[in-house]
Amino acid sequence: MSKPKVLVACKTFSDIVDRLRPHFDVETNDTDQPWPQDELIRRLQGKAGVYISGSSKVDTTLLEACPDLRAVCTMAVGYNNIDVPACTARGVLVSNAPDVLTETTADFGFALMMATARRITESEHFLRRGEWKHWSVTMFAGADVHGATLGVLGMGRIGAAIARRGHLGFGMPVIYHNRSRLPADQEAPLGAQWVEKDELLQRADHLVIVVPYSPSAHHLIGERELAMMKPTATLTNIARGGVVDDAALAHALQAGTIAAAGLDVFEGEPVVHPALLECTNVVLTPHIASATVATRRAMSNLAVDNLIAVLTGGTPPTALNPEVLVK
Ligand code: DGY
Repeated sequence: MSKPKVLVACKTFSDIVDRLRPHFDVETNDTDQPWPQDELIRRLQGKAGVYISGSSKVDTTLLEACPDLRAVCTMAVGYNNIDVPACTARGVLVSNAPDVLTETTADFGFALMMATARRITESEHFLRRGEWKHWSVTMFAGADVHGATLGVLGMGRIGAAIARRGHLGFGMPVIYHNRSRLPADQEAPLGAQWVEKDELLQRADHLVIVVPYSPSAHHLIGERELAMMKPTATLTNIARGGVVDDAALAHALQAGTIAAAGLDVFEGEPVVHPALLECTNVVLTPHIASATVATRRAMSNLAVDNLIAVLTGGTPPTALNPEVLVK
């Protein structure tokens, strides 16, 4: 009997892809570039499963064009690129990759916040341009992180890991806003206090945004919200492009409404708003918050675990719609 066919739609670690080969006939994308949507659909013909990253879109058009598809397994934790209800309606199992990236992503969020507060990339660019002629008392004087008020917007697993770093490592008072308040026994070890969103914006010295993207989170931070922040405050976004209105942010950075920003995600990425590229008081990174070798391997292995389980009659460890497996 021939093996089911699966597609690995983005380049990943070859030894992890090899785990699929005993079970499936495997086609891979070795180009390190996402395929255009029509090519993805063409390559999915006759495939029972697909391994994707956040760069591939799984929508109704794709699902209708790929009736053999039974499993969509993303190696990312975020899944706003996948229409999960449409998959569920067609009996397609969707899995993501939570937990394995939490601490790595929190490390990066904290690093980006620190680089932003302490003006690290701005001063490095100055040095590389050969402009450092003498030492000065106020040269690149930024904002303290230790002891400053950390504001966390979105207190999920990654938000909590950032709060823990701030509270235990840097003596930061931690305030947060989330739709649902954490139970007191989860707030206490983080030293975290729930506040309304507006209060969070008004009080935070360093705001870190970690909310998942959904239509209701679109432009959660725009002109009105930025105007509420302190002129000395920093904003760090490691959530998803679209949660922050990038045009409004660029304007706020230029006008001095806030002091600085650290951004790992962008509206319409990999295209970055040209006004942000013009700002010196912003640290820009290309969506790499979870990018350590160990963590990207763990995320990839988890997607492969899910793919193998779904298509061999097992229980996928991190299914988003396990109800499709109930006969
Ligand atoms: C995630 O896992 O969601 C990261 O943002 C990488 O896409």
